[in-house]
Amino acid sequence: MLRLLIRFLLLLFVLSACTAPVAQAPTNPAATATTSATPAAATVAPAPSPTSDPRLPTAPPRITPGPTAAPAPIAAGWWDGSVCYEIFVRSFYDSDGDGIGDLNGVIEKLDYVNDGDTNSRRDLGADCIWLMPIAESTSYHGYDVTDYYTVEADYGTNEDFKRLVAEAEQRGIKIIIDLVLNHTSVEHPWFQQALGDPKSPYRDWYLWSEIRPNYRGPFNNEVWHQSPLGDEFYYGLFWSGMPDLNYRNPAVTEFAEEVSRFWVEEMGAAGFRLDAIKHLIEYQAAQSDTAETHNWLREYRQFLERDLPGTFTVGEIFDGGPRTLPNYYPDQLDFYFEFEIARNTRGAADLGLGRGYLDAVTAAMETLPFQRFSPFLTNHDQNRVMSELDDDIDKAKLAALALLTLPGMPFVYYGEEIGMLGVKPDERIRTPMQWTSEGGGGFTSGEPWQALQEDYVVKHVAQQDEDPNSLLNTYRELIHLHRATAALATGDFVALESDNSSVAAFIRRTGDEAVLVLINFEDAPAATPLLSSAGSGLSAGAYTLRPLYGEATAEILTVGDAGAITDYTPLAEIPARTGYIFGLTR
Ligand code: NOJ
Repeated sequence: MLRLLIRFLLLLFVLSACTAPVAQAPTNPAATATTSATPAAATVAPAPSPTSDPRLPTAPPRITPGPTAAPAPIAAGWWDGSVCYEIFVRSFYDSDGDGIGDLNGVIEKLDYVNDGDTNSRRDLGADCIWLMPIAESTSYHGYDVTDYYTVEADYGTNEDFKRLVAEAEQRGIKIIIDLVLNHTSVEHPWFQQALGDPKSPYRDWYLWSEIRPNYRGPFNNEVWHQSPLGDEFYYGLFWSGMPDLNYRNPAVTEFAEEVSRFWVEEMGAAGFRLDAIKHLIEYQAAQSDTAETHNWLREYRQFLERDLPGTFTVGEIFDGGPRTLPNYYPDQLDFYFEFEIARNTRGAADLGLGRGYLDAVTAAMETLPFQRFSPFLTNHDQNRVMSELDDDIDKAKLAALALLTLPGMPFVYYGEEIGMLGVKPDERIRTPMQWTSEGGGGFTSGEPWQALQEDYVVKHVAQQDEDPNSLLNTYRELIHLHRATAALATGDFVALESDNSSVAAFIRRTGDEAVLVLINFEDAPAATPLLSSAGSGLSAGAYTLRPLYGEATAEILTVGDAGAITDYTPLAEIPARTGYIFGLTR
């Protein structure tokens, strides 16, 4: 009887050991960058007990989160009030006619981004460029790196990059680069050595198992891949071509620090966009946002502060919003992309959902440190915003206004400013920049590596440059305004209540400077909009409104005690799909 009882207890123990923490990760279309697998909702199976089969990897110790550092505001720096422009080098400008964009091409087009003259309005006015991966890689997109220390030969040389940094600096532009730390290419010599020789020093740089563990990845994809050489498996979260690095091995962290040092100290990069960083360290089936990843980021930040102070970091926490992002502050990276704001800004511009946009921004303001997130519309992993907005220039202008009046550091994806189209597959959302109507769109004198979008003959920089009402000139106006107006660049954000859910109104204020942003996202006029706030942050008094963007004569705004605004109607009517920025003077 006693034996039976002991057996029963043993069985219970084994069963409970088989239940491991499960990560519930959001769907990530980024996975389609490298696989054809359709992303599906996460259905992660429980991890097998590490002790249940000796052929499975040994269970790593689960790390408990360390104490967070005292919440320190990020030091003031060039990023305050900055606007960043994301460039896919392969598609931006080809300087040598081989059909592939290159770093010299980016140099040739720097004046388009910022000509260094603060009075000029012929440039976009952005003061930061994010280059998608530029290190040697086997793929067209560069997210599977084969040599972290050498510029991709298609793009030029390390010397070209240094020249780009110097030329950019003369125009007041900082260059940040994509840093892919989570994985390497399967072709990377480290992985090839580890694969071919279990005694290789690089063996422990990757993750191995004798049999395939019975769980899948956050996109319901296969993450344990059969070795082409033998009866074993390696781990690669995105696909078999991208084996994950093993950050439980201190040598790999040393590499991450060394490569960061190289790009900052030797090459002159101002900082990094850290790719897929939420997947850095896995704990069996838990493959996103683990305590180990947070701890690693804390240490990485301490390394940067100690050894490379002033290095800027922005992290890709795919789909990150108020639910997951707060855990990444205050002591990890500087900024993160805010995907919830992006989704809701597009939704507002497309469907008139002004309240959804304001709610998303308010949620970010309530849960994330002020000014330490990056709003955007779309990036290289999403269908282009102009395709989502039915190629409608009025919608695109609203989206630009809604983006470039927000707190944080906004990012603009190359081509968005001229309304370039693009729907997946990924190559089609990363097509060559449309500079002119010439063959090759002025992008190349040769055969473009990827066909341009069909509308390049009628939609291009040269044509929009001349048209004061073009989308390009709207972006130029808004970016310059963002940078020149302290309230927009770094001011507080207070949403006003509106009686019309399509009308978004908010105040941005710093010191004595304040602006009112007013946007009617609806495809119909908004009659007598009523705006209110229990505490707008403004001092009591009467304010006149001076249009900074858009033409209109607005009513005086009376602010009561404690900043109260009651049933204020700025305009008798806001025309359909129209927005304004007003400067407020008391
Ligand atoms: C996220 C990137 O944005 C995406 O384009 C890439 O394919 C994956 N990370 C893997 O590096």
